[in-house]
Amino acid sequence: MPRIIETIVTTINADGEAHMAPLGLIAEGERWVVAPFRPSRTLDNLRAVPFAVASHTDDVRVFAGCLTGRRDWPTRAADKVKGVVLEGAVSHWELAVETVTEDDVRPRFACGLVHAASHRPWQGFNRAQAAVLECAVLVSRLHMLPPEKIEAELKYLEIAISKTAGPREEEAWGWLMERIDAWRAEHAQKV
Ligand SMILES: Cc1cc2nc3c(=O)[nH]c(=O)nc-3n(C[C@H](O)[C@H](O)[C@H](O)COP(=O)(O)O)c2cc1C
Repeated sequence: MPRIIETIVTTINADGEAHMAPLGLIAEGERWVVAPFRPSRTLDNLRAVPFAVASHTDDVRVFAGCLTGRRDWPTRAADKVKGVVLEGAVSHWELAVETVTEDDVRPRFACGLVHAASHRPWQGFNRAQAAVLECAVLVSRLHMLPPEKIEAELKYLEIAISKTAGPREEEAWGWLMERIDAWRAEHAQKV
C-alpha cells in the first residue's frame, strides 16, 4: 500500500477564490497524488488552476469543520504558487500538477513539490486527534457505508475521545456528532 498523508488541501478557481477540503495525499515516488472523487470543487479547481497547497495541521477542528460546513478558516497567500496556506499550520507544501490520469470515479493529479516550509514545532498527537480524523472520514462516507459499520466504528472511536480529548478535539467531535445525529434521524425515518 502507498503511504497516504491526511492534509488540508486548498485550491483556487479561475476567479482566485480559495476552496479548502481534507484530502489524503498519496505518495508516488517523488510526487504526491491528489485524487478527488467526482464531482468535487477540488477537482474543478485543479483543472482550472493546476496548483494545490497541502497544510499539515494538528488542529483537527479544521478536518471536522470542513466536513460540517465550517470552511472559513483563516488563510494567507502561498509563497511560490497560486493559492493559500492555512494559518496556524505546523508546516505546508506547495504543489504543482504535473500529470493528470483521468478516471470516471477518481481522477489522479500527480504533483511535484515546489516549496515546503515549517512554521512551528509539532507538539505530538493523541488518540483523540486520530479518532476525530477517522470520524470525519466516516462522515464523508455516510451515504456509502452500511449503518451497522458506522455505528460499530463510532462506538470504538468514542473510547479514545472520552480518554484523551482536549478542548479542540471535544469541539470537533461535537460538530461531527451533530452530523451523525442528523443522519441517524434520517435513517430512522427510512426504516
Ligand atoms: C481525512 C480525510 C481524507 C479525505 N480524503 C479524500 C480524498 O482523498 N479524496 C476525496 O475526494 N475526498 C476525500 N475526503 C472527503 C472530502 O474532504 C470531502 O468530500 C470534500 O467535501 C471534497 O469535496 P469538495 O472538493 O467538493 O469540497 C477526505 C475526508 C477526510 C476527513
